[in-house]
Amino acid sequence: MVSTDIKEGGRDEIAELARRRGFLWLAFEIYGGAAGFYDYAPLGALLKRRVETAWRAFYTREGFYEIETTSVAPRDVFEASGHLESFTDRTVVCKHCKTFFRVDEGIDINKSCPECGGELEAAGEFNLMFQTRIGVPKGERGGKVLDKSEGYLRPETAQGTFLNFPRLLRFNRDKLPFGVIQIGKAYRNEISPRQSLIRLREFTIAEAEVFVYPEEKNKHPRFEEVKERKLRLVPGEGAQAQEEMEKTVEEAVRSGTIANEYLGYHIAKVDEFLEGIGIPRDKLRFRQHEPEEMAHYARDCWDAEFFSDRYAWMEIVGVADRGDYDLSSHASYSNTDMGVYPQQQSQVQAEGEAEKAKAKIIPHVIEPSYGIDRIIYALLESSFYKEQVGKEKRKVLRFKKEMAPIRAAVFPLLNRDELKRKAKEVFQDLRNEAIFVEYDDSGSIGRRYRRQDEIGTPYCVTIDYDTLEDDTVTIRERDTMKQVRVPVAEVKEVLLKGRER
Ligand code: ATP
Ligand code: GLY
Repeated sequence: MVSTDIKEGGRDEIAELARRRGFLWLAFEIYGGAAGFYDYAPLGALLKRRVETAWRAFYTREGFYEIETTSVAPRDVFEASGHLESFTDRTVVCKHCKTFFRVDEGIDINKSCPECGGELEAAGEFNLMFQTRIGVPKGERGGKVLDKSEGYLRPETAQGTFLNFPRLLRFNRDKLPFGVIQIGKAYRNEISPRQSLIRLREFTIAEAEVFVYPEEKNKHPRFEEVKERKLRLVPGEGAQAQEEMEKTVEEAVRSGTIANEYLGYHIAKVDEFLEGIGIPRDKLRFRQHEPEEMAHYARDCWDAEFFSDRYAWMEIVGVADRGDYDLSSHASYSNTDMGVYPQQQSQVQAEGEAEKAKAKIIPHVIEPSYGIDRIIYALLESSFYKEQVGKEKRKVLRFKKEMAPIRAAVFPLLNRDELKRKAKEVFQDLRNEAIFVEYDDSGSIGRRYRRQDEIGTPYCVTIDYDTLEDDTVTIRERDTMKQVRVPVAEVKEVLLKGRER
């Protein structure tokens, strides 16, 4: 008999499993750790790589190029971007234990301290930027002493993309629209990072910046492809505010729930990507920001939220319409031309009539911004389940096959030289085919299956005495636990079935 009981004590078991089986380890553990920092252990690093590879492939199919810009930048950049002034969170402090907290749904001055129950009082805004020094503190230029050494770690990759906009435009033959992706580390000095991968001080962000003519935002060239996709939406403002509804992308855009086709298209793409890597659709929705919740650069923003058994609805991706905020701001701070000729004009220009060209316009930016670590958390939590099999409890991470850190494990049934020799041969052949496999000959076969279930390995290949006779093996599938006997020559085909990317 098989029965599922995901809920029972599930959450801390996931953290425990992630540590014990080598997904996530506390950073600086031997020095006592530090809040908001985690290291990816071998299986976690593999899982993260699978998600990142899927993400790159997904946006490459959109025709977007990837760039890689620096993660440290001089003060000017973040002064212009508005982060030094506005990238802040409201805080409260406990009068009793003096702990600071970020104000959010659970914490405010009317609530009591989550640590000691003491009274909370307002403690002002706290800037989340990590400051650093670049080189020697002071330099001299033109008789004036300048301090050019103040630098900051980036809180998003987007600014690096914006700074390169004039060159990217030329790279794209002066034509809009185009998209550019970046994936890399971002840093935020979060006030109270007490929630595993959800609120880190160093995390991985994957962002696409899509540059478009403002007047073309309602003409996405591939809108047809997504328009029938159904979305679960929670609008932020107006008559329908806070009411959850299901609409197709087309209905949402045509009725004004979603402001334009570009935003609608990219919300649909986020939904498609998250479903594709295995986030259950019934745990996903898109919630629009309230005006006061919006980042300083955004004119509209929808969060993809995942329903976590532990943290309730939580943001995993933000999709923002940043308008011309960033490019305009960098244009005026750096005195650089960030404009583009109106669409019809670029043709005229090519014909050598540039003098007739109208004034340039600053493109708008639509930005899906994915938090990879929160996605990893969502995958771990939503994949985990336990079931009773006979007298035993079986714990499983039911990852999609192509996301699983390890594709298959190869076992000799018994610890005998002739079986081990053959098993190692099969194992090596699979490795040579670039399939990520593990070899294991320690402990009972049942124990080995359980270990692979816990780390989400979709297949176990067992070599027994029949293998030596007729060159067949058993392949056991993780979710059904069914075993099939197949010729060694067909193992690869079975393991790769369903490999979509
Ligand atoms: P929150 O309101 O939860 O602080 P945010 O609105 O500041 O998040 P964004 O600025 O939109 O988040 O960042 C884009 C994405 O980066 C988020 O959807 C989230 O997945 C991820 N992210 C942001 N801050 C963190 C963090 N401290 N740790 C891990 N991931 C984060
Ligand atoms: N780039 C999205 C954000 O940092 O808010």
